[in-house]
Amino acid sequence: MADKIEISVEKGLLEKTSANVLVVNLFEGVKIPAGATGAIDAALGGLISKFVIAKEGFDGKFGKTYLLPTHGKIAAEKVLVVGLGKNKDFTPNRIRELSAKVIKKCLKMGNAKKVISVLHGAGIGGYDPEVSARMIAEGTLIGGYSFDKYKSEKAPKKVEEFTIVDMSDENCKKAKAGIKKGKIIGTALNFARDLSNEQPAYATPTKLAEIAQGLKDVETKVYDIDEIEEMGMGAFLGVAKGSIQLPKFIHIKYKGANPKAVQKKIAIIGKGICFDSGGLDIKPPSSMLNMKDDMSGAAAILAVMNALKDLKPNCEVHGIIAACENMPGASAYKPGDILTAKNGKTIEIDNTDAEGRLTLADALCYACELGVDEVIDIATLTGACVVALGSTASGIMGNHQPTIDKLIKCANSGGEKMWQLPLFEEYADSLKSDIADMKNTGSRMGGAQIAGVFLQNFVKKVHWAHIDIAGTAYLDKPQHEFPKGATGAGVRTLINYIMM
Ligand code: BES
Ligand code: MN
Ligand code: ZN
Repeated sequence: MADKIEISVEKGLLEKTSANVLVVNLFEGVKIPAGATGAIDAALGGLISKFVIAKEGFDGKFGKTYLLPTHGKIAAEKVLVVGLGKNKDFTPNRIRELSAKVIKKCLKMGNAKKVISVLHGAGIGGYDPEVSARMIAEGTLIGGYSFDKYKSEKAPKKVEEFTIVDMSDENCKKAKAGIKKGKIIGTALNFARDLSNEQPAYATPTKLAEIAQGLKDVETKVYDIDEIEEMGMGAFLGVAKGSIQLPKFIHIKYKGANPKAVQKKIAIIGKGICFDSGGLDIKPPSSMLNMKDDMSGAAAILAVMNALKDLKPNCEVHGIIAACENMPGASAYKPGDILTAKNGKTIEIDNTDAEGRLTLADALCYACELGVDEVIDIATLTGACVVALGSTASGIMGNHQPTIDKLIKCANSGGEKMWQLPLFEEYADSLKSDIADMKNTGSRMGGAQIAGVFLQNFVKKVHWAHIDIAGTAYLDKPQHEFPKGATGAGVRTLINYIMM
């Protein structure tokens, strides 16, 4: 596991620090490197400028790498030159992505136990060394991750140490702080990825509840089926009925570093459908294939709640998950059934595959009774959102523009993308039912927003945002710093939001 890579900072001269690999960088189009890379070039007798750049044509395009041996001219055995891309396009997010590429490359090398690196982009006029180090730590943890629990042959774990080397005390101090934050975030992301990548036979509602109960510095209450019924969560229970796995309603409370004077009170809800077969409106095989990831929202909540013990924000945070499976068992809920949510509203079931909004309906009602200022839900909710935004961005909507704006900002600085979708009242038209307060599905057109409008029925007196991660939670092919599989979508956004 990537978590085993020891990421640290060391004061010293790059050329005098021994390592298997030294990572230096180059902006696109630079012919004669300056700064740290310039110093290494000089120590190597111009090998980078005269050979790598001039002869081999290394152009510094973003993510390109060139590995060269040092033949004892400096303490490191090899130098890995990495392309930073165009100076004008360079951002902290790119440092993270680059660092993920670097660690992947190093993991594939035969002998790269110790890797040392410059602080990318933190030179004169560049980024704060803390930011750079944080991005390096995040990227290293993200890129070093692999889900190999079920492989007989494990992924290579050859990199033991990844050390940022800098000769200024000031930079080292800042880098140390950055690494600390980056590690917390990277670890949280990988925690969420592990859960979403798990097989559904493992990541059951009961398992999620167990994990929640094992979290430190929080109070966890798990409601079993009888209590869920007593609370009047008829929508959630309706979905859960078709599975042999018992539903669990999970409430994790973090009181804040100084509970008497918290800055804000928020509730974060994660969709926790541990497997979505579609229910009686069963999905075709290709659509069901990755439906173990339908608890990615819940995974993000567990990861964030687990990180709070290290982040110690002074706000009250409630993590909420209505966990169950959506299965077509003999006792499954049926199209035509009418469910009553916790707030008394009745829902005619139009399609059993629109289950997430039903479980979220009761979770939203519960959250709105906690006396919090803000409620944010995060869910792999609609295929329509995937059609609209692909795997590039999550959809976001809600009832309070400043909350949405803040979340989008937190997403962007965390390396995630979110795009707002509208909750026009016209979308509610197609949810009209002849015999109940509403149906659970309407038109296929505008499906992500219709789901948002549905959820809004269960929101009362709070600022609310809904984040649809159906397209971003799980990748079919590599994207930026992530390989195929779970991404931990939402984790960085929510952590940034809680910490702001
Ligand atoms: N979990 C799915 C949404 C989903 C689709 C997540 C693709 C990840 C990738 C959700 O429960 C679902 O089945 N939604 C239906 C709703 C429809 C029946 C109104 C959909 O989007 O097709
Ligand atoms: Mn579904
Ligand atoms: Zn679902």
